[in-house]
Amino acid sequence: MIVLGIETSCDETAAAVVNDKREILSNRVLSQLDDHRPYGGVVPEIAARAHLEHLDRLVAEAMDDAGVEFDDLDAVACTGGPGLIGGVMVGTMTAKAIAFAAQKPFMAVNHLEGHALTVRLTDDVAFPYLLLLVSGGHCQVLIVEGVGRYKRIGTTIDDAVGEAFDKTAKMMGLGYPGGPALEKIAEKGNPNRFGLPRPLRGRPGCDFSFSGLKTAVRNYMDGFPVEQQTEDVKADLAASFQRAVGDTLIDRARNAVFEFMQDYPAGNTLVLAGGVAANKYLRGRLTELTDQAGMKLVAPPLDLCTDNAAMIAWAGLERFRLGERDDLDFKPRPRWPLDPEAPKRPGAGVKA
Ligand code: KG4
Ligand code: ZN
Repeated sequence: MIVLGIETSCDETAAAVVNDKREILSNRVLSQLDDHRPYGGVVPEIAARAHLEHLDRLVAEAMDDAGVEFDDLDAVACTGGPGLIGGVMVGTMTAKAIAFAAQKPFMAVNHLEGHALTVRLTDDVAFPYLLLLVSGGHCQVLIVEGVGRYKRIGTTIDDAVGEAFDKTAKMMGLGYPGGPALEKIAEKGNPNRFGLPRPLRGRPGCDFSFSGLKTAVRNYMDGFPVEQQTEDVKADLAASFQRAVGDTLIDRARNAVFEFMQDYPAGNTLVLAGGVAANKYLRGRLTELTDQAGMKLVAPPLDLCTDNAAMIAWAGLERFRLGERDDLDFKPRPRWPLDPEAPKRPGAGVKA
């Protein structure tokens, strides 16, 4: 079984081919960072135009790398949402056109399901598992019961964790994208220098909040005259911020682990997924929790944490082999929760 995947929901244009032996036959990712950097964040219209300009070529390259023709495919999958609608439309139209021309089934994949199922492509992870999904638009804890079966038990009540990294990095003048830059300078910093809040720590439940943490960093930055905002100060602040995020994630995830183990005694895996899962410090910190709980922490390799099309092809394949198909009149979905039954949280993750 061979599936082509297309990802265009944010600022990566990506195409990949995977098969049901869990082989990634090709995986092309074109980052649009240079297009967006002058604006300090993703500009939706620029993203959509860049996807349009590059996607056909990337698909051709991914097919070439994999050594397959459209005729060899079993299905064509694309991100159908959630995400920036212009980009999602470009990917969806392209995937539909290929599916129609090659007379292959079309699969519209939920981008979050792509992140959620990546570990089943890269590792032997069986259902059910507990998932901490941490990206630029989302910060959620979900119980993954099966393909298409998600129970959300926690979410952010304000910023997503990647967003907190990006905004904090921006106010510290670390440029864009902020997450990786902040992690890098934090390596040299003293995590104990600045006292920062651990929002919601000790409270019941698994919801998150990061906006107070971001504001506390801003207050420290504002307290230093510009000439005193040295590399040392920034490194210490970054390290203190990262430690506070780690403490917060562990505290919130601990409640989730407890709930998961009670309801699903057979489950023993905590999966960390989404762009922020690329953060090595946070991966390390979360193993403290899984070690204590007698669980296993599984996170995809770094390049499959951030947005890519292999995860979309794989999620498409998982659904395809269960007999699911989507119609060519599928409408791209700017919002598409994994668990539609979960209660709405005011201001929760913009793409939720
Ligand atoms: O999953 P993703 O590529 O896109 C979304 O679906 O949102 O996640 C991107 C987010 C950005 O906020 C980025 O700053 C963050 O993931 N990120 C990181 C790291 N690498 C990417 N955050 C912290 N540390 C990192 N190493
Ligand atoms: Zn993503």
